[in-house]
Amino acid sequence: MTAVLRTKNLLKNFGAVKAADNLNITLESDTTVGLIGSNGAGKTTFLNMVTGYLTPDHGTIYFENENITGKSPRDITRRGVYRSFQIPQVFNTMTVKENLEISVSIGMNQPNYTKHIDETVNNESSIIKNSLQKFKLEEYQEKVASQLPEGTRKLLDISMALVMKPKLLLLDEPTSGVSAEEKFNIMDMVMNAVRSEKIAVLFVEHDMEIIKRYTDRTLAFFNGRVIADGLTNEVLNQENVIENILGSSI
Ligand SMILES: Nc1ncnc2c1ncn2[C@@H]1O[C@H](COP(=O)(O)OP(=O)(O)OP(=O)(O)O)[C@@H](O)[C@H]1O
Ligand SMILES: [Mg+2]
Repeated sequence: MTAVLRTKNLLKNFGAVKAADNLNITLESDTTVGLIGSNGAGKTTFLNMVTGYLTPDHGTIYFENENITGKSPRDITRRGVYRSFQIPQVFNTMTVKENLEISVSIGMNQPNYTKHIDETVNNESSIIKNSLQKFKLEEYQEKVASQLPEGTRKLLDISMALVMKPKLLLLDEPTSGVSAEEKFNIMDMVMNAVRSEKIAVLFVEHDMEIIKRYTDRTLAFFNGRVIADGLTNEVLNQENVIENILGSSI
């Protein structure tokens, strides 16, 4: 397997808070990795640095061996790194379909956009139709995004990232604020889409049932540092993880 993302000695301080304290992380292509850590551990800060929303104080970020440190979110997106946010960033006054139309047209104009092998599904309307079906958004397609239930807004946000054909997808708490049964539905749909496209995924999650079911590997953050990184079963049984993270989230 090859590394899609590699970070070297990443540091980010906010005043006296060490939000990232020497992060050395490698993500391989074609894997699903969970990122856990209690509130304020630095999970979103890490995603923000990788996607160009924050510049690290020190350290380097490589995407497919290219140094992308300090590049703008737009430049990083152009290379195939997409994300969803803790609070879905959709266009609230537009319909579900219009939101997807915007993403598809942005995606299709990216230099790295990979066309589907089947030419008949390469036009904008079939990509949107396919996405609406895959994420069970058809019944909502003419609804304005601000009126959607939270789980559906999350799905819309994620499906907007996926139609742009990421190589690396970063999801910040894809299941927060939704009911327990809806969580599994959301993740099933997202993971099916991701696995069929061979996209590397890192997702931040507080629900350990979701982590156990959908990840191969888990990274655990505490005070801006990686305190565990390995097979999910092993990480979740590690004493320092139980003490510092699971104790507070269960
Ligand atoms: N823009 C900012 N200005 C000042 N402090 C910040 C800023 N962003 C993050 N922090 C601080 O950095 C630390 C890490 O925050 P971060 O949002 O990365 O945590 P998190 O692991 O995503 O937490 P949560 O699970 O609550 O989302 C926290 O102490 C937070 O208060
Ligand atoms: Mg966060």
